[in-house]
Amino acid sequence: MTYTSRFPGFYKISVLERRALVSEATGADSDEMERALEGGGLDAETADKFVENVLGTYSLPYGVALNVRVNGKDYVVPMVVEEPSVVAAASSAAKLVRAGGGFRAEVDSPLMTSQIQITGVTNASAAAGNILAHKAEILHLADRAAGGLVARGGGARDLEVRVLGVPSDRMIVVHIYVDCRDAMGANLVNGIAEAVADRIAELANGVVGLRILSNLCDRRCVRVACKVPAAVLATDDLSGEQVIDGIVNASRFAELDPYRAATHNKGLMNGIDAVTIATGNDWRAVEAGAHAFAARGGHYAPLSTWRREPARRENGVNVDGMLIGRLELPMALGTVGGTLRVHPAARLSLRMLGVETAGELAQVAAAVGLANNLSAVRALATDGIQRGHMALHARSVAVAAGAGGAMVERVARMIVEARDITLEAAKRAIDLLASASEGATASGD
Ligand code: MEV
Repeated sequence: MTYTSRFPGFYKISVLERRALVSEATGADSDEMERALEGGGLDAETADKFVENVLGTYSLPYGVALNVRVNGKDYVVPMVVEEPSVVAAASSAAKLVRAGGGFRAEVDSPLMTSQIQITGVTNASAAAGNILAHKAEILHLADRAAGGLVARGGGARDLEVRVLGVPSDRMIVVHIYVDCRDAMGANLVNGIAEAVADRIAELANGVVGLRILSNLCDRRCVRVACKVPAAVLATDDLSGEQVIDGIVNASRFAELDPYRAATHNKGLMNGIDAVTIATGNDWRAVEAGAHAFAARGGHYAPLSTWRREPARRENGVNVDGMLIGRLELPMALGTVGGTLRVHPAARLSLRMLGVETAGELAQVAAAVGLANNLSAVRALATDGIQRGHMALHARSVAVAAGAGGAMVERVARMIVEARDITLEAAKRAIDLLASASEGATASGD
């Protein structure tokens, strides 16, 4: 088996043919794939064990991003998303990035922050000093509350005290940094907060307040970068150099304007959320962390930026710089525990990805986010976003009108060219193609 994420013409073949190809290339069992993906992978009885008052389940499309290469390794990346063109955008931008060597990524240790709020503190600096003097004891208490995690090589690593507000607020918060290994860690970190709170309040001479993780897990960040040669960015109307200028301009717009930054970040979260959901992770946690991180400087900023690499001389000739993209955000993903234990499609996703650790998964998810961002800013800086969206939308309209196989592309092209992407136009196109082929058969063509 050769693991590859390159499948030219993948969108043209049937769902069953795609499953067979992916199963062969990733080693994911085809029976398991069928069981996990038919009907969304979750029956009402299992769903009833997840949440309360269950009536049934709600399915979303499960696709795969292709062409994704991170740190020299290929990944077929599962994405669960309802928005047309997100999966196609990730795959096509990942192909552009491949031309520059693929994504490079690095990830921090999986450190989550446990917050213990203490109120009624009359002398904050004395409280902080006393807590810090008992750091070893508190970390030991924390580890005792998470024996399983410690056995897996994780556990409490450090402690910090922050004084909040002004003295009359009488409030401090203690952060305990917990290495969660391959777990997302919410339950572990919440359990630790509850286990150490009484002792901390005693040392601070205050009252226990909230005990909960922080979703701004800024010690668990992932960083991804990519380089894209100008030549592959060119469009029918613009040179690659012009496209680079347009993308840098789009990046500067987001850096200078929070209204644009919000949409820029939404575009990259399209990819990150889709991978997060497909792998059974908590996408609200990832979203909360991402946006809090985006505002960490007191100004809401884009999570990714795009620049042109300086031109250089190679063998005596000037070589233009490539486009460089960078993305950094906190990413609390797990590959063990939680939904993963029970959701067959989430388990399948991890098998298909072949990731060894939660950190590796975070790098792949972030790479897909940067791919979606590249695709969006390239489209916005060139043809505009609607053209590509419409072409893809036209395909679903063609299918809804009854087109199948090769007919889908032909009908989609006809209704895009006619600028009439409606069910009625698609049905007319199908009739026209059918009568043209009958005519051809009758005349013996
Ligand atoms: C749409 O889901 C995402 C975009 O709006 C992102 C962007 O504007 O960068 C296209």
